[in-house]
Amino acid sequence: MEPLLQVRGLTAEFRRDGVPSRVVKGISFDVAPGEAVGFVGESGCGKSVTARAVMRLAPEGSPVSWGGSIRFAGHDLLALDERAMRDIRGRRIAMVFQDPMASLNPVMSVGAQIDDMLVRHLGLSRRAARARTVELLGLVGIREPAARADDYPHQFSGGMRQRVLIAIAVSCQPDLLIADEPTTALDVTVQAQILRLLLRLRRELGMALMLITHDFGVIAGMVERVYVMHDGEIVETGAVDALFASPGHSYTRSLLAAVPRLETTGRRA
Ligand SMILES: Nc1ncnc2c1ncn2[C@@H]1O[C@H](COP(=O)(O)OP(=O)(O)O)[C@@H](O)[C@H]1O
Ligand SMILES: [Mg+2]
Repeated sequence: MEPLLQVRGLTAEFRRDGVPSRVVKGISFDVAPGEAVGFVGESGCGKSVTARAVMRLAPEGSPVSWGGSIRFAGHDLLALDERAMRDIRGRRIAMVFQDPMASLNPVMSVGAQIDDMLVRHLGLSRRAARARTVELLGLVGIREPAARADDYPHQFSGGMRQRVLIAIAVSCQPDLLIADEPTTALDVTVQAQILRLLLRLRRELGMALMLITHDFGVIAGMVERVYVMHDGEIVETGAVDALFASPGHSYTRSLLAAVPRLETTGRRA
């Protein structure tokens, strides 16, 4: 199958004290339509910079230069003008970040934040947008969604805020959802619920999913294929079960050793 996303030789460089510092060092990967792919590696290895490159989002205040190519559904994302990129970002490629509070506007009701996406990207009327917003909040498991739409982010728990962010991310039925450590800030029990929700939505909406984590235990059972990142490079790739059974790279072995109570099936205990 033709990949939905085809990344070749991607590099990302920041300038530190005027000196260029390359943090993503020429990585290549593919994501097929509807496929769930994991990206795993320790903190600082370049996962978020890679994810943001696919959204073409530079970190605030830090100029970054990208190299290589990112092809998405026939577009060369690194070559698109910003206006064309705005049509893709949020609509065809959406992202869920680690910290739901930082990603929501604290002075706007959660419903209004979802309405805005629908009005801006899909051209819905305010009224039609609100009806869809309530459906979306229900879809991500928020009870009494019509009433909760008028609540503000601080009135939700961390897990519920992450559900709201997921509702925003899937509001325009993107082809690709990038979830960057979506459960790292949450309690363990809530983590499992959010992961199940992501998997269910991926199936129901037919999206491809890039699931990014530092925790191999999160990836197991969630995705079929995984890319292992280390120090700005992809050091290993393969089917999750195969990697669990026989990791080829010493770095993958050390990541796996950090997963607690791993069963031989490759599922989380
Ligand atoms: N805005 C920035 N300015 C300079 N360096 C950055 C910036 N953001 C990230 N980096 C560096 O890029 C590398 C990769 O970061 P990141 O992608 O956030 O790692 P990960 O998400 O895997 O934890 C790290 O060394 C980090 O210090
Ligand atoms: Mg990160």
